Amino acid sequence: MKHKPVIRKVRSEAERKICAKLMAGSDPWITLGITNEMILRTLKDPLHETFIVLIDDQIVGTFVLQEKGAFTGYLKSIAVKKEWQGHNLGELMMAFIEERFFSSGTNVFLCVSSFNKKAQKFYKKLGYQEVGVLTDYVAKGYDEILMRKTKGPVLKK
Ligand SMILES: CC(C)(COP(=O)(O)OP(=O)(O)OC[C@H]1O[C@@H](n2cnc3c(N)ncnc32)[C@H](O)[C@@H]1OP(=O)(O)O)[C@@H](O)C(=O)NCCC(=O)NCCS
Repeated sequence: MKHKPVIRKVRSEAERKICAKLMAGSDPWITLGITNEMILRTLKDPLHETFIVLIDDQIVGTFVLQEKGAFTGYLKSIAVKKEWQGHNLGELMMAFIEERFFSSGTNVFLCVSSFNKKAQKFYKKLGYQEVGVLTDYVAKGYDEILMRKTKGPVLKK
């Protein structure tokens, strides 16, 4: 890769809109019926932190984290722009996410749609394990697979 990718938090509404568009134009969001407006609402929710990957000032990837909640350390969404997929940007983002979550906790959780075989392969390769199936969780007729990578129990001895 000629120019180094940079990861940082979104800084403006315009950037948030680009992230929402990136996700809304791709699966799994299309199949699940999650619209641009729904994604934008999530990105504006103070519970979530949205990050971007920039190459030459262009947004080529995005991910959304939820640090607090039922499962501490939850990766809500991740997406790489179609033409940039397969260039290890996904792995780069996952390394960033793991460093962040494992610095304060012992788990990273995420959900992946049962039809999203490519993403399942991607997470498994990175050491994520299937821990459950959430039937009709996001949309009727589709299962979400809950995956987890762990460094050990939440409570230290
Ligand atoms: C899933 C996703 C984030 C991975 O990011 P990426 O930048 O494409 O992945 P990387 O280049 O880091 O690839 C790492 C591994 O992912 C898998 N992978 C990536 N692109 C792939 C492709 N086109 N076909 C099959 N496997 C692929 C491979 O296992 C690859 O390992 P390899 O280097 O041994 O081939 C990205 O493909 C994406 O945005 N997909 C659409 C949105 C999505 O499904 N998000 C996840 C929702 S849970």
